[in-house]
Amino acid sequence: NIKACIFDLDGVIVDTAVYHYKAWKRLANELGFDFTEEDNEKLKGVSRVRSLQLILEWGHVTKTEAEQEVLATKKNEWYVEMISHMTPAEILPGAKEFLETCRAAGLKTALGSASKNSMTILEKINLTHLFDAIIDGNKVSKAKPDPEVFLKGAEAVNVKPDKCVVFEDAIAGIEAAKNGGMKAVGIGSPQVLTEADMVVPGLNEMSLEKLRAL
Ligand code: G6P
Ligand code: MG
Repeated sequence: NIKACIFDLDGVIVDTAVYHYKAWKRLANELGFDFTEEDNEKLKGVSRVRSLQLILEWGHVTKTEAEQEVLATKKNEWYVEMISHMTPAEILPGAKEFLETCRAAGLKTALGSASKNSMTILEKINLTHLFDAIIDGNKVSKAKPDPEVFLKGAEAVNVKPDKCVVFEDAIAGIEAAKNGGMKAVGIGSPQVLTEADMVVPGLNEMSLEKLRAL
């Protein structure tokens, strides 16, 4: 009885985490400190401003709100430069195929991402046409685990939350789906995404049969 699939972007459809990491690392290095790839995990699904605040905390650096604005913009410019070179080859295995499978089965598809760069990325990887609705960081005011982004996605495709499945790689994203009364499929490791209804390593392991079993 699932009628819509809502997909997070970063870490589900594409692996932009590497670009976010490079850009944040460059910023941290300019400020005179560094952070690890392990710390970077904590930034997944986290908004731009909040990510910066976490990084500044790790480096024991204090900045005013105005300075933070400048730093976040700087990071974003580097990030935008990097994603401008993205190609469809960077779509994660099975993502495009699963979107097509869902649509062929008559399910609605929506994007639910915190990223304000979602449209640019979807255009670069040529996937825009596979989404009935796109809700990104420009359309929401509350960050995951608040369900706003997914509820807006459900509303945009006219499907009740309990008939929606969310695909997410971040803990906060799984929580957001659950807070919105939706099913959640984790993309990653079951040890990390403990609140998900099901966890698969990637969308290449997903099928309509598994959806129906939810
Ligand atoms: C996604 C990513 C985060 C990123 C956030 C905002 O949730 O997982 O790492 O910080 O989007 O992205 P943006 O492109 O708007 O800076
Ligand atoms: Mg993600």
